[in-house]
Amino acid sequence: MDKYIIDGGRRLFGNVKVQSAKNSVLPLFAASVLTDKQVTIRETPAIADVFCMAQILRELGAEVSFRGGDVVIDSSDAHSHIISSVLTKELRSSVFMLGSLLSRFGRAVIAYPGGCDIGLRPIDLHLNALKRLGVKISERDGYIYCECEKPTGAEIVLDFPSVGATENIMLAGVKAEGRTVLQGAAKEPEIVDLQNFLNGMGAKVFGAGTDVIEIEGVSSLGGTIYTPVKDRIEAGTFLIACALCGGEVEIEGVTAENLGMLLHKLRENGCKIHTKNDKIRLSSYGRLKCNRRIETMPFPGFPTDLQAQITALNTVCEGGALIVENLFETRFKYVPELQRMGADIEVRGRNAFVRGVNGLHGATVTAGDLRGGAALVIAALGAEGISEVLDLSHIDRGYSAFEDKLRSLGAEIKRVRI
Ligand code: EPZ
Repeated sequence: MDKYIIDGGRRLFGNVKVQSAKNSVLPLFAASVLTDKQVTIRETPAIADVFCMAQILRELGAEVSFRGGDVVIDSSDAHSHIISSVLTKELRSSVFMLGSLLSRFGRAVIAYPGGCDIGLRPIDLHLNALKRLGVKISERDGYIYCECEKPTGAEIVLDFPSVGATENIMLAGVKAEGRTVLQGAAKEPEIVDLQNFLNGMGAKVFGAGTDVIEIEGVSSLGGTIYTPVKDRIEAGTFLIACALCGGEVEIEGVTAENLGMLLHKLRENGCKIHTKNDKIRLSSYGRLKCNRRIETMPFPGFPTDLQAQITALNTVCEGGALIVENLFETRFKYVPELQRMGADIEVRGRNAFVRGVNGLHGATVTAGDLRGGAALVIAALGAEGISEVLDLSHIDRGYSAFEDKLRSLGAEIKRVRI
C-alpha cells in the first residue's frame, strides 16, 4: 500500500494537461462489446478503474491491448455474458455492462453491485428501464439474470437523471427493434461522449446533453477510433487545489461549460478565472471567502464528484459555508480526516457546516474513497507542515500520475511504498 508525504504551504504555478475522462472511458469500454469489429480508444488514462474494466472485457473473451496511451479492443471472440462478483464489487459502475451484453448476446448475468463508501448505489432505475425494453429480469443468490432475445424500443421515463441508467439504456437501445425515447436523461458531458462514440460505430442516437434522448435501433455496429472527452473532475480538482494553495494554474483540455457551476463558485470564493476555448486559467492570491452555500446537483449543477474538494477549500476560507450533498447518502466520510488537520466542520446527514479557519496543520490522514482522498491531498498541500495521506488505492482508481502533475506545479509531494 502506498502513501503520500506532503510538505504543504507552497503556492502552485504552471500548466496541467488533463487526462481523458474516467467516467467516459468506462462506458466506452462497455460499448466496445456491441460490435465484433476492432475499437480503438485513444489517450486512455492509466488508472485502476480502466484496468478493472479491461479485466471485465477479457473475462468475457475480448482481447484488450494497451498500446502507448491507446487501448485496442477486439471482442470478436467474446463468448461469455457473465460478470463475476469480484469484478462487480471492485467496479460498481460496471452495471452498465448489462445494456451492452443484452445487445450483443441477448442475455446478461451480473452480481448485484451493492453499496460502497459513498452510498447505497441502488440500480432500480437501470432494471426498470431494461424491463421497459422487454428484458426479463430475475434475481437469485446475489446475481441478476437478464434475458431478452432482442430488446424492443420503448418510451422510458427516468424518475432521476441517473448517469449509469442513461448509459445502460443507450447501450441496450442501439440495436433494439425500433425506436426508444428516453425522457429525464442525464445530461453530463460523458453522455454526449457516449452518443458520439456509438454514432461513430454506426448507431443512431440523438439528443444527448438534453433530457430527451432518441435512439433508432440498427441491426449491427462497426468498429471505430475515438478520443474521449477530457476529465472535467480532474480539471476541477486541480483548479480547487490552486485556489486553496494560492498561485496561478492553467488547465488545458476542458471547456468552461463542461465545468458547469464550479467556475461560478470559485469566482464567488474570490479567484480570478479566464477561459478561452479549452483553456482555463485560475489565479488565487490572499485569503478567499467561503461559498456560503453549495448544493450538489446533476449536471449542469455543482458536481457531486467535486464536493469533497470544494469542502476542503472552504475549511480555510473566511466566513462559513453550508455544503449539501443531494446525490449520495454518505459522501462526507472524509470529514473526520480534515478535522485531524484542524478543519472546523460539523456534519448532519446530507449537510456539512464549515466554519473557515486561518489555516490547517499537517497530519497523518487516510483516504477512504476516490474524491475524498483527492480532497485530503488538496488540504495537505495547503496545510502548514508535513502530512501523510495513507491508502492511495482509492486515488489511483481515478487520477493518473497525480503526484507527478502536482509536483510539476511546485508541490512538495512524494509517493512512498509502505
Ligand atoms: C456516475 O455514477 C459516476 N460514475 C459517479 O462518479 C458520479 O458521482 C455519478 O454518476 C453522479 O454524477 C461513473 O460515471 C463511472 P447515478 P452513477 O446513477 O452512474 C441514485 C466518481 O467519483 N440511483 O447518476 O452510479 C444513486 O443512488 C464516481 O468518479 C438510484 O436511486 O450515478 C445516487 O443517489 C462516483 N437508482 C444518484 O441516483 C438507480 O438505479 C446518482 O446516481 C441509479 C442511481
